[in-house]
Amino acid sequence: MSTQKTVTVPEFVGRKGGEPIVMITAADFTMARLMDSTGEVDCLLVGDSLGTVVQGRPTTLAVTLDQMIYHTEMVVRGTQRALVVADMPFGSYHESIEQAIRNATRMMQATGCTAVKLEGGVRFADTVKALVECGIPVVGHVGLMPQTVHAMGGYKVQRNEQKILDDASAIAEAGAFGVVLECLPAELGKRVTEMIKVPTIGIGAGVHCDGQVLVGHDLLGLFDGHRPKFVRPYADLKEVVRDCVKRFSSDVKARTFPSLEESFR
Ligand code: KIV
Repeated sequence: MSTQKTVTVPEFVGRKGGEPIVMITAADFTMARLMDSTGEVDCLLVGDSLGTVVQGRPTTLAVTLDQMIYHTEMVVRGTQRALVVADMPFGSYHESIEQAIRNATRMMQATGCTAVKLEGGVRFADTVKALVECGIPVVGHVGLMPQTVHAMGGYKVQRNEQKILDDASAIAEAGAFGVVLECLPAELGKRVTEMIKVPTIGIGAGVHCDGQVLVGHDLLGLFDGHRPKFVRPYADLKEVVRDCVKRFSSDVKARTFPSLEESFR
């Protein structure tokens, strides 16, 4: 049995106003294990952004609960330390509180994740409250909510201050243990962070949030599609991948791969 300590929900909440929380998305065992082995990641998020960076879709809307369960299970298996949070995909909690409880329960039982995340503000406060009362830890997500991209008219910076303040406080008061703030002015990120009692995790929400999250594929420079302004790639792994493939191809064609050492007698 592992002796490594897992980050718990109360520890996550205790980081409010303290050392910033490090959150990264992961979608498979290998990436989760690599990231978690650094000991630097507090929370691995199985984000439904996997719909774009893994599945190659234009939005996250088509991602299903079964697909999220499939990916979350792999991430949980690769993780020893970080708290694993799974996104509830579009349509999996919108019908009713009963549907939300049923699907979040399935997510927790099938994957072993510690918490779920759902997008939405005031409109979903009762849903968050019901999940929390059932013992399901919830992270909220307000500001730019990619599941409502069509209603929002695109991936835009969210500037409706009153709505964002109302949404974040409703979700926090409903019992969420953290709230992701996506794509809003840094000053508003600061106001929300000062206003709510649980940690805010920013993505394009400025430096004052209690933590920061990036999509793993963006952080590593693996994704070749659109790169939002708030992404800082720490490597250019897409070029590393292309270079490795070209060198392998060249060795295969020159018959220098496999060598004698790489062959069986
Ligand atoms: O789906 C996702 O990756 C997310 C992050 C952008 C926070 O929700």
